[in-house]
Amino acid sequence: MYGVINKSLREMVLDGHGELIWDQVMAKAGVPSDSFLSMRSYDDEITFRLAVASSDVLGIDVDTALHAFGEHWVNHTLAKEYDALARSTGSTMLEFLTNLNALHDRISTTFLDYQPPEFRVSALEANRMDVQYISHREGLNSFVAGLLVALSNRFNEPMTIEEIESLPVESGTHTRFKLLMAV
Ligand code: HEM
Repeated sequence: MYGVINKSLREMVLDGHGELIWDQVMAKAGVPSDSFLSMRSYDDEITFRLAVASSDVLGIDVDTALHAFGEHWVNHTLAKEYDALARSTGSTMLEFLTNLNALHDRISTTFLDYQPPEFRVSALEANRMDVQYISHREGLNSFVAGLLVALSNRFNEPMTIEEIESLPVESGTHTRFKLLMAV
């Protein structure tokens, strides 16, 4: 994945736990020290090793770490580095999520040959939303859950994830997140 993702993960651990802990994560992950250039594409393995090493060092399970990372991405990286783009993507959770594929498309001229996920969104009733996440990658459902929780806070639209349902795929991931909005 592009270095912007690895860099955001490093920032989360550094901000929350400091340099000594980050040094332990790097030692445990055994990834090259130059894995953090935003505009360079790295092997996915590097991102996964960093996530697993962070959870090991912090003594939390990897899904908890990925969830926290999803929240950090929206609350810090998106808010600080892509605020204008994020604002033009939507002013409600439904509008934003509906335009998320277009957002990832728009930046494909910057992140050449990258492989963003696909989202399919439908508002079922006033208080229910169905978000399908499709990726050629595996293991990132908790990251997506963290992203969704943080987005609902960003738009001040409280919700709970009622159910996370894995749909059949030959490879990669297809997951349905059923959201219950507090209206
Ligand atoms: C302007 C803001 C955003 C930028 C610049 C951005 C950029 C990226 C980049 C560079 C990747 C790595 C893909 C690769 O290297 O192949 C990625 C992956 C991803 N993005 Fe975005 N993204 C943004 C917003 C979002 C938002 C708001 C969400 C979610 C709700 C999201 C969901 C994801 C997910 C889940 C992945 C992991 C890849 C996968 O699942 O296969 N992104 N994005």
